[in-house]
Amino acid sequence: MIPDETISRIRDRASIVEVVSDYLTLKKAGRNYMGLCPFHSEKTPSFTVNEEKGIFRCFGCGAGGSVFHFLMQYDHLTFPEAVERIGKRYGIEVERLQSPGAKRSAEEKETLYRLNERAAAYFQETLYGPGEGRHALEYLRKRGVDERTARRFYVGYAPQSGPGLAGYFKKQGLSLKDAVRVGLVSDRGGERYGEKFFGRVMFPIADAGGKIVGFGGRVLDQGMPKYLNSSETPLFRKHATVYGLFQAKESIREKDRVIVVEGYLDVIALAQFGIGDAVATLGTALTPDHVRMLGRYTKNIVALFDGDNAGRKAAARSFEIFVEAGLMGRGAFLPKEHDPDSFVRAYGKEGLEKLLGEAIPLADYYFTWLEEGYGRSLEGKSRIAQEINRVLAKVRNPFEADLLVRRAVDQLNIREALLRAPLAQGEVRPAASRPVESGPARDAAERSLIGLMLRFPAMIERIEPDAEIDGLVGPEWTDIFNAIVSEWKERRDVDGAMVAAKLSPERAAEVAALTLEGEAVEEAEAAKMLGDVVAHLQRRRLRGLERDLRRAIRIAEEKKDEKTKKERMLEWQEVVRRERQLMRQRSASRNETQ
Ligand code: UTP
Ligand code: MN
Repeated sequence: MIPDETISRIRDRASIVEVVSDYLTLKKAGRNYMGLCPFHSEKTPSFTVNEEKGIFRCFGCGAGGSVFHFLMQYDHLTFPEAVERIGKRYGIEVERLQSPGAKRSAEEKETLYRLNERAAAYFQETLYGPGEGRHALEYLRKRGVDERTARRFYVGYAPQSGPGLAGYFKKQGLSLKDAVRVGLVSDRGGERYGEKFFGRVMFPIADAGGKIVGFGGRVLDQGMPKYLNSSETPLFRKHATVYGLFQAKESIREKDRVIVVEGYLDVIALAQFGIGDAVATLGTALTPDHVRMLGRYTKNIVALFDGDNAGRKAAARSFEIFVEAGLMGRGAFLPKEHDPDSFVRAYGKEGLEKLLGEAIPLADYYFTWLEEGYGRSLEGKSRIAQEINRVLAKVRNPFEADLLVRRAVDQLNIREALLRAPLAQGEVRPAASRPVESGPARDAAERSLIGLMLRFPAMIERIEPDAEIDGLVGPEWTDIFNAIVSEWKERRDVDGAMVAAKLSPERAAEVAALTLEGEAVEEAEAAKMLGDVVAHLQRRRLRGLERDLRRAIRIAEEKKDEKTKKERMLEWQEVVRRERQLMRQRSASRNETQ
């Protein structure tokens, strides 16, 4: 539990535009900021952030809420974790009663990050130090890596001889057991520890925030293996991590593009030559997790492949990976004898940019590859159709599935009927989440009431004293309604983001939507609308009551239960009386305002 006061303090201090901008590109559009929604795939921005109200909302998929909900959904955090994260970003301490387990694991992670940082610093000192670092520096020089770039990527060196990292940690009083857990040191048993990396140029692997999660190390000579990577640890998940993202982030934002390559030194060479938006997978093939993660920064992902057979095969394969992640990537191909590192050194930035400019949609590439593989015979076409159907089954978005089918029909001259099959069988799932707009129409009155309460809190005064406020809104709306009313009672003001903060992510999205909807309404008009809506809801409730009572009276009649019948009759008369009264009030207030 975090005190409400702390939550509001953090919310007031935090800029939602700033926080969201850590993760995606926002552009100012009128009063709002817009960007590509990280929660569903889209090509035109419908993700809206309103700084003033502290709320975000996607008009495409319906996601929305406070700055806390953004992090909850984006990083799969719990509410308190999101509050803490943002508190930390703005230097506000969050004290909370944490379960001992959760607290320990958070602290443990911090400890592990710190160890990685110390290790990176040690490797860097060794590289530039007086000892065998010289050889590594010489190697980097030979490979054309300048010092500025090496420092930008925090390149270091793990020595071949001497006390090494284990010795250094011991001297510093750092836990060698933790160093083992983070994959930096190996446990030789009996309190003896050995080096995991020695005689290697070290490339720290950072997450998007610059925290070091692991290392890659390259031998200086022909030794094996050429590259050694950290093992999977609590901090390091190879399949969802790319090298160089922290350094590339800004450039990705600026260019609205990311280039995916294979090697550490490819990323480094490209950066040195002024192509800053490159990242590398870590000795594994591209995964849907990689693509999804990069898709949060830009939808414009270009994979750079080798020109040899392996590269061409990798390109065809990666189409499926992109599809699984809900994105349509492009591929660019290097000439046979080159990798990105050697190519940029030979042809410079312009040469590589030209090649990237010629990138083709992976879908096209994939179709061509299939055709080359299976041929144009009838038999071949049916095999191709089978293959495409297998991939189509992974397409989440029906429009994209459609697009692919049409492409296959055009490009491969395959009969559409062969491809429609999986769609018809309903294998294609609808797009991620239900747009809020499609909620039942009967909730229209609730939606406008709550929207008005959020946008014109002072008007809550008009309905709050009403003893009949209970049951005014349908059961689906009571949580939001009550949250707003209690906000008002406590603070005499309502802040959409604060209300949202008390609700589940789904309800928070609803609140965000309603806070931002119909912004242009004038106060006077809003007052009239509120009167109408409340009257409508009251009438609806009274009619429901009346119906229930009539049924109760009929049942009592059938049972010949005179006593109950009489009681229900009296209640019924009271309801009818209130209904009439309500109608009179309404027409009176209408005449007044006319
Ligand atoms: P490459 O063998 O293509 O090497 O590996 P490279 O990047 O061109 O390396 P240099 O230029 O010879 O230094 C590409 C990537 O595959 C992973 C590494 O991430 C490497 O950057 N890899 C390669 C390994 O993980 N282990 C290996 O033994 C080799
Ligand atoms: Mn290379």
